[in-house]
Amino acid sequence: MSKVLLLFAHPSQDRSEINRPLFKEAKKIAGVTAVDLYAEYPSFRINVDREQQRLREHQVVIFMFPLYWYSTPAILKEWQDLVLEYGFAYGSEGKELQGKTFLCSLTAGGAASAYRKGGYNHYQIWELLRPLEQTANLTGMHYLPPFALFGSRTAVDEGRLPEHIQHWRSLLEALVSDSLAIEHVAPNELLNHQLEQIIKEGA
Ligand SMILES: Cc1cc2nc3c(=O)[nH]c(=O)nc-3n(C[C@H](O)[C@H](O)[C@H](O)COP(=O)(O)O)c2cc1C
Repeated sequence: MSKVLLLFAHPSQDRSEINRPLFKEAKKIAGVTAVDLYAEYPSFRINVDREQQRLREHQVVIFMFPLYWYSTPAILKEWQDLVLEYGFAYGSEGKELQGKTFLCSLTAGGAASAYRKGGYNHYQIWELLRPLEQTANLTGMHYLPPFALFGSRTAVDEGRLPEHIQHWRSLLEALVSDSLAIEHVAPNELLNHQLEQIIKEGA
């Protein structure tokens, strides 16, 4: 069994249609520690010791957020800047994150078709997430491709939310029960599009 640390960052949850129900679902799953960063740190005074201790106690780390200006909401950047210290996360003595698994769960207002060369957002989502991928690499974490929903502002009306929640639950349960075949994950495909191939039989 693995413990999953879910770090959720959404500054206006009263208007959230996707991340809020996903977060609610995650809270029901034993083995998932669901942290609402904006609720815990409304003035951005992140408790570094507490966050580092949380990291030590978990094997899987998930950043969950709505894509804001092709990146994370501000508090997740603040969290990285303060918590991933030299001597803790990197450097010759900084080995606390080595061997953990890292992934992003994100929603994007833009359509999937916009996130490609020739589309109005020009870049694929994995290209935009490179800083997080490289942060995982540098700190010795195993990086998984994102679990993502595009066209998020129309997803409820189009009836796409229930399936996404179901995939989310399956992913979290597989991570907790160590039944995700990480070695078979395709790097340039959304995690939610390959769950059938990577969740081991009987999980
Ligand atoms: C400040 C801000 C920046 C945003 N930047 C992007 C962006 O870069 N790309 C994108 O596709 N959507 C962008 N959006 C749309 C959000 O990603 C979208 O509202 C969110 O995924 C919806 O999720 P929710 O229902 O949980 O709030 C932005 C929204 C806001 C408020």
